[in-house]
Amino acid sequence: MNFEIFDSIRKQFEVNALGPLRLTQALLPNLQKGSKIIMMTSRMGSIDDNTSGGSYGYRMSKVALSMAGKSLSVDLKSRGIAVAILHPGLVKTRMTGFTDSGITPKQSVKGLLARIDELNLENTGTFWHSNGEILPWSECRARLLLRLQTTSFLRNLRRPKSFQLTNSRTAIYLD
Ligand SMILES: NC(=O)c1ccc[n+]([C@@H]2O[C@H](COP(=O)([O-])OP(=O)(O)OC[C@H]3O[C@@H](n4cnc5c(N)ncnc54)[C@H](OP(=O)(O)O)[C@@H]3O)[C@@H](O)[C@H]2O)c1
Repeated sequence: MNFEIFDSIRKQFEVNALGPLRLTQALLPNLQKGSKIIMMTSRMGSIDDNTSGGSYGYRMSKVALSMAGKSLSVDLKSRGIAVAILHPGLVKTRMTGFTDSGITPKQSVKGLLARIDELNLENTGTFWHSNGEILPWSECRARLLLRLQTTSFLRNLRRPKSFQLTNSRTAIYLD
C-alpha cells in the first residue's frame, strides 16, 4: 500500500472540494430560482464503485465534493436551485495522459450538457455519468435493492404458495 504525502492530500481537498464550495458561496447571492449548480466530481469518488483502491487524495477529495453537492441540493431546493453531481466519463485530457481508452472532450461535454438540461428540482442531488447512467453510492444501492425487493414481492403475490417475505434484508440495507 502506498499512501500519498499528506500535504498533497490536503492540497487536493483545497482545490477539488473546498474550491468549488467557496465559489458556490461567492456566487450564491446572484443565483435565482431556476439556477443550476454543477459539481464536476468523478466516479473515483464513488465509494461503491471503488474496486481498485489507491489515489487517496483524489478519491477522498471527490467524495467530499460530492457530499458538498448533495448537501447543497437539499439546502437550496426551497430556493428553486438544482444541483448536479457529474462524472464526465473517462476523457482524453491532460489529466488522463490523453488515454486512448477515453472519450473525446467533445463527446463528454455533449453528455454533460444533456444532463444539465435534464436537471430539475425533482432529480436534484443525483450523481450522474455524462452518458446518463446514475452512478452508485449507497443511496442508489438502497433504491435498487428496494426495487428488486418490490419486484420479487409483486411476483410472489401472483404465486402465493411460494411467497416468502424478505423484509429483513431490505431493512438492513435501507438503514
Ligand atoms: N479526464 C477524465 O477522465 C476525468 C474523469 C473524472 C473526472 N474528471 C474531472 O474533470 C475535471 C476536469 O479535468 P480534465 O480531465 O479536463 O483535466 P485537465 O485537462 O488536466 O484540466 C485540469 C484543469 O484544472 C486546472 N487546475 C489544475 N490544478 C489547479 C489548481 N491547483 N487550481 C486551479 N485550477 C487547477 C487546470 O488549469 P491549468 O490549465 O491552468 O493548469 C485545468 O484547467 C476535473 O475536476 C477532474 O477531476 C476528469
